[in-house]
Amino acid sequence: MNKKVSTTEEQVKIRQETKQIFKRFGKKRGNLMPILQKVQGKLGYLPQEAMLEIADFLEIPGIDVYSVITFYNQFRLNPPGRHSIRVCLGTACHMKGGYITLDAWKRRLDIDRGETTPDREFDLDSVACVGCCVMAPVTVVDGKPQGKVEPTKVDGLLLAFEHEQEKKSKNENG
Ligand code: FES
Repeated sequence: MNKKVSTTEEQVKIRQETKQIFKRFGKKRGNLMPILQKVQGKLGYLPQEAMLEIADFLEIPGIDVYSVITFYNQFRLNPPGRHSIRVCLGTACHMKGGYITLDAWKRRLDIDRGETTPDREFDLDSVACVGCCVMAPVTVVDGKPQGKVEPTKVDGLLLAFEHEQEKKSKNENG
């Protein structure tokens, strides 16, 4: 399915939080979508443990829950990272090498589109045109569109994150 990132303690918490949500719903198959939306709203994604709880509650096969999640791109199978990286693959960005930029992010972060790094620092995905085509190829980093993001700029952005991280840990350690 997806990269396993949950710990046992976390799995228990996920199951409990998912069950809490059921209180507001009847055991009707028609409640699947609103339940999925609520669970994702609470957890930020739909982990396997939540899927199993939902299937149990609605008394439907787990594969049905999984199929709905993968059909709609509003649902996430992986936890959100602390930083979100969204590579624009709209027409203008595509023409200016959006896929090369996406490949660069994939290689540097060592994850695929739709995934989160194991340390949950970054999640990576693609988006359609974000309306800044003159700056193509665009990557939206933590909600802010960055222009002319070619592979060398990917390195620069990651370096900036590293520096920020170093500064933070220095401040924390006095
Ligand atoms: S196509 Fe990327 S911003 Fe428009």
